[in-house]
Amino acid sequence: MRRSASLAVPFLAALLLAPASLVAQDAVPGKAEYDRWCAGCHGVDGKGDGPGATTMMPRPRDFTTGRYQIRSTPSGALPTDEDLTRVILDGMPGTAMPGWRDHFGEAEVRDLVAYLKSFSPFFESQPAPEAMEMPSAPGADEAALAEGREFYQKIECNKCHGEAGRGDGPSAPTLEDDDDLPIRAADLTENWFFNGGGSVEEIHERLVTGLNGTPMPSFQDLIAAEFMTEEQLWRVAQYVRSLAPEEPPVVREVVRAGRVEGDLPASVDDAGWDLAERYYVPLVGQVIVRPRWFSPTVDGVWVQALHNGSELALRLVWHDPSESPDPQWDEWQSKVLALMAPADSPADASPDTAAAGASEQGPLSGSQADTTAVAAASPGASYPDALAVQFPRSIPDGMERPYFLMGDDRDPVYLWRWESGQQASELLARGLARYEPLGGSQPGALVAEAVFDQGEWRLMLRRTLDAGGIEDRLGFEPGRAIPMALFAWDGSNGETGAQGAIGSWYFLYLDQPTASSVYVTPALATLLTAALGVVLVRRAQRRARNDA
Ligand code: HEC
Ligand code: HEC
Repeated sequence: MRRSASLAVPFLAALLLAPASLVAQDAVPGKAEYDRWCAGCHGVDGKGDGPGATTMMPRPRDFTTGRYQIRSTPSGALPTDEDLTRVILDGMPGTAMPGWRDHFGEAEVRDLVAYLKSFSPFFESQPAPEAMEMPSAPGADEAALAEGREFYQKIECNKCHGEAGRGDGPSAPTLEDDDDLPIRAADLTENWFFNGGGSVEEIHERLVTGLNGTPMPSFQDLIAAEFMTEEQLWRVAQYVRSLAPEEPPVVREVVRAGRVEGDLPASVDDAGWDLAERYYVPLVGQVIVRPRWFSPTVDGVWVQALHNGSELALRLVWHDPSESPDPQWDEWQSKVLALMAPADSPADASPDTAAAGASEQGPLSGSQADTTAVAAASPGASYPDALAVQFPRSIPDGMERPYFLMGDDRDPVYLWRWESGQQASELLARGLARYEPLGGSQPGALVAEAVFDQGEWRLMLRRTLDAGGIEDRLGFEPGRAIPMALFAWDGSNGETGAQGAIGSWYFLYLDQPTASSVYVTPALATLLTAALGVVLVRRAQRRARNDA
């Protein structure tokens, strides 16, 4: 209850003036840890308004409201101490809320829980919340999943989450939380980003208890109303679990382009792609240079690659609930831009050399710092979806690579850029969104084919391996490690220019012809990847020695 906190104020003011050693022995249990580790986001008064809060979507929880998402208690009720403990230990995947399992001991977490509760009067005024009895899970088989699917539509999960569960239902662009802030319907195919955990039991608990403060309702009353049975709600949970892979994707540094004899797959959905290995490349918001972007839509891209000795084809698949530009998402875009703008107003849209200096390439060259500022998005404009693949201009011998945010004046990058509704183009980039065309309609130019399908983009990009003698145009060589990085923009989320999702450098490795089999077995692939790693390290070491 507030009493303990407010009594503490004069005392704390005194403490702040006291020597640092005294501050550690705080009179209110949990307060010192809270102020140190939580207040930066949640605010000293627990109102969810810490200095970092404006960069976050969703915003940090306002503890004074008593509204909690991850609970074992009925819809609208307060959480139990165990619920709060669990969320502190595990964090909320898919949001800025970190897990603290390795950080705090049991007693510290207990104190933090008590301290969080003191921010809201409801914990004092209402009876102690109690966990609901959960029926145990029935076994799942094909028929069970089919029944789950049937109810998924019957009770209109698809309205928000979409037919394929990718967060692209017709209501998705209009969703707001209880503070009138835009909120995304979760992508149900990515259970590793579920706030309350991705197991079938956790999904079931969310369906029974709902997520207080969000448009995601509880479905318990449908059981009370005999619209569905307890078992059928379990079926829905099991069906939702089946939309995501068994295990979260593993990130591997080397994307292998298998070699095929004869023709490459003719189209983006050609069955020829089924044989190509899939690699997951995670993306994050571009927060290194201004204007920064803290709320990207695209959180990862699945990459497949094949070549046939004369051409290379990439297949890139990612989730984006809108086929931009889409007027249905205009309002969403202005809400997101209004929400995220204060963090990084266009007024100070100049490259932030201090932050960029911390990047993997060390301080930027002076030339990049002089770069004309990249414009931030404006709420009224509409933008396409876009994807870019970045390569160096030639294959490096060692580990050196251009500056990963699309190069700089000293070392520009060779870029493939695709936009929805456009052909793909080959560009030279000297920094984020500083493009100039390269090549043109020469034979062997980059070809693109894209399909948008229920919240998913599938894009095929194809080019000849040979550079055709054009300066600054990368030639692809089998048997070499070729640096590659990805960028993605969701136009309807207000993403353009420097504001989008970025990935770090990966390597593309084109297989050399193999005598026995065209497709490398997983075991061999692992060996080769390891061997390649050794080669790269050796090269880097040799280089370092030579430099010395
Ligand atoms: C980097 C920012 C950040 C820090 C640091 C942080 N949180 Fe959070 N926290 C968030 C965000 C963002 C949310 C809301 C996520 C959402 O709504 O999906 C949140 C939500 C929560 C919730 C709500 C859970 C629920 O069921 O709704 C609790 C409890 C919580 N945080 C506790 C803490 C505690 C305790 C600390 C310090 C030990 C802490 N947080 C530190 C960002 C942060
Ligand atoms: C009115 C829109 C709406 C409907 C209807 C809806 N959801 Fe949701 N759902 C949401 C939103 C919004 C979120 C994201 C909440 C957040 O990020 O905090 C969400 C989140 C989820 C999550 C992730 C929970 C977590 O731990 O992060 C699951 C699973 C889910 N919904 C399943 C379902 C299922 C199954 C149904 C139908 C039985 C359904 N939803 C109906 C809007 C809806």
